[in-house]
Amino acid sequence: MARIIFHCFFFVFLLAVTSCTETSESDVFITTVASPGIIPQPNHLVTQDRWLVIDPESGVYADSLFAQEAAFLSTYLNERGISSTLQNKPSSAQFRFTFSTELPKEAYEIECTNDQVNILAGSKSGAFYAVQSLIQLTSQAELKEKGISMPAVTLKDEPRFKHRGMLFDCCRHFMTVDFVKRYIDLLAYYKMNVLHWHLTEDQGWRVAVEAYPKLTEVGAYRTELDGSVHGGFYTKSEMQDVVAYAAERHITVIPEIEMPGHSSAAIAAYPWLGCTGEQIEVENEWGVFKDIYCAGNDSTIRFLEVVLDEMCEIFPSEYIHIGGDEAPKTRWETCSKCQKRIAENELEDEHHLQSWMIQHFVNYLGAKGRKTVGWDEILEGGLPEGAVVQSWRGFDGGIKAAQSGHEVIMSPTSHAYFDYPIKSTDVKEVYSFDPVPEGLTPTEEALIIGGECNMWTEHAPQERVDFQMFPRLLAMSEVLWTDTSNLSEKQFFSKLNREYADLRAMGVAFGIEAVPVTVSPIQMDGAVSVQLLPQIQDAEVQWKLNSDEVWSGIEKAPMVTADNELLVRTLRWGESYGDTVVIPLSSHKALWTDIQLPNGYSTYYTGGGDKALVDGVRGTQDFRDGRWQALQGDDLVAEIRLDTVATISSLSTQFYTYSNAWIFMPTQLKVEVLNEAGKWQSVASVENPLEVNDRRQDVVKMVAQFDEVNAVGIRVTAVNRGICPDWHDAPGEPAWLFCDELVLR
Ligand code: ACM
Ligand code: ZN
Repeated sequence: MARIIFHCFFFVFLLAVTSCTETSESDVFITTVASPGIIPQPNHLVTQDRWLVIDPESGVYADSLFAQEAAFLSTYLNERGISSTLQNKPSSAQFRFTFSTELPKEAYEIECTNDQVNILAGSKSGAFYAVQSLIQLTSQAELKEKGISMPAVTLKDEPRFKHRGMLFDCCRHFMTVDFVKRYIDLLAYYKMNVLHWHLTEDQGWRVAVEAYPKLTEVGAYRTELDGSVHGGFYTKSEMQDVVAYAAERHITVIPEIEMPGHSSAAIAAYPWLGCTGEQIEVENEWGVFKDIYCAGNDSTIRFLEVVLDEMCEIFPSEYIHIGGDEAPKTRWETCSKCQKRIAENELEDEHHLQSWMIQHFVNYLGAKGRKTVGWDEILEGGLPEGAVVQSWRGFDGGIKAAQSGHEVIMSPTSHAYFDYPIKSTDVKEVYSFDPVPEGLTPTEEALIIGGECNMWTEHAPQERVDFQMFPRLLAMSEVLWTDTSNLSEKQFFSKLNREYADLRAMGVAFGIEAVPVTVSPIQMDGAVSVQLLPQIQDAEVQWKLNSDEVWSGIEKAPMVTADNELLVRTLRWGESYGDTVVIPLSSHKALWTDIQLPNGYSTYYTGGGDKALVDGVRGTQDFRDGRWQALQGDDLVAEIRLDTVATISSLSTQFYTYSNAWIFMPTQLKVEVLNEAGKWQSVASVENPLEVNDRRQDVVKMVAQFDEVNAVGIRVTAVNRGICPDWHDAPGEPAWLFCDELVLR
């Protein structure tokens, strides 16, 4: 799943304090003739410093090769009230498309001479990208007031990478065909050219396969925890329709059929596909699951061949994706068929069995003229010959693959996971993405064919997808198209400010660029306070306490002397920007005292640093909110020295519990106090209030109450359960413990 569970262990969760976008008021992009804002930035663009008026009767002429692309422009102009028609003579047309043998695939040139726009392209896709640039030039919102005109330009352009993609998970949440097509339109508008269609998962199988009707009868639907049913699937003709629609927009659809893992839905439909043969359900939780395809069963291998035959018939793409990620080998270890396959093929272990399986399908698809893509886990038992690697757990898998002569698609969690919240990957982070890491030879660099942004949808039903994808998609499109020497973050943000009007016009319910405000605790005597720092241009930040009526500006800092909730909201350009953030605060007797953590804390979840447990700011339902302090495997021990002798009688705190993310309650919370004579004394011990197999995701309070005592110090120990229990999907792995503010009263 990554998405929640695994990702958190692989990437350092950066609560980066992003600095404000460095554009001042005077830099803000205005549609001057000098700087038409095309996204992605063309690689060579000279403005002629004049407006070219589009004739209300303007015609479009194209060499027959480009008829479809010319029609695309003509239709667009018609929609804008220009009665543009396709002409059969260049002389009578304002827009003229000509084929050039000199231009590489996807390259195009636009030259405005007098009132005419001449377009040169070396392929249909080049002509199509010229059309997208022209649409962007003519659609600039401000132009509506100027009549219909466009900045006259001289433009020569071609992409840096041949693979500019978006992964769309239509399994965790089903997306309608119309919605998928809408994304194809949006990708095309920003010159992306690959839709990586994630079609099979634990939580839903989405492709109809004639030979196996139960895949969709059973596998396409899951019963949610609340009893409702979620699902859907695509018929063969629907998929063919999507492929054709995409092809008209020069987008290749690459299907992904996951194996050997993420296959619960298929196994629920046909239990013989798994190792145990037992009936399982289509999953209704997010995670990584033990039941995977049996690699020792010839019928399972044949099943996958039949599914891939069907996919090859529907999808003409050069590449076919077969997953390969997050496949626990638990079942294979005890399956006689899998063990027989290992023995017969003299394989080292279960990882090599996975390599054997992937190699089988690389060969199978290779015989059909297709290249096979897999996630970077396919490196683990030896990288199958001829496989293409999609690197997601950072860049390393991609580097290794390129070094051993394999093609690579880069989509590291650090820059390309648009299902992640904006606080882990904001637009600047995406804009800093370079799919080609340092240290490769030119030959190895050439093997990096491009990148993808990944839209996993565990937490994104259809109506949430725009919020996650935009505006990050625009940054991704630019870094995959534009040469590094032509990238400019400052210019990009200027263009982006103006692009919002167009996004609105296209009906895109875009999200935010960055966390609009950071909240940092500030040290104060006997009260909790925080500093609120705006992080985006033009942000107006306001706050109030839950008990307040009116909102205040940030010239005055909030202050709390008991328990309260701080509400922080941001306005931008007169509208609310992002959600109102609710931050629970607690004032208490250990605020900002000297605290030692002998077992330390995880660098993945720093919880705001050394003082996180005594800064007055509490954690929320989001375990990645940067307020939780976490340890893996170890007990949390906190030793606090109070500034003066204090009379105390309780220590309360909260723990996060979420077994899917390997986060468990402590088995025990122990409190000792240090008296004035320098002696430690145990005063309370509280047991975990939850059942040991409780799978809920929640914040759970634990309170240690004791007889009033005078103390100069206190030691709190939260006992980690040590390892994930037997019933868990990762039994024996070190358990996480997430602790919140130590509220001493
Ligand atoms: C992945 O995110 N599991 C490829
Ligand atoms: Zn097996």
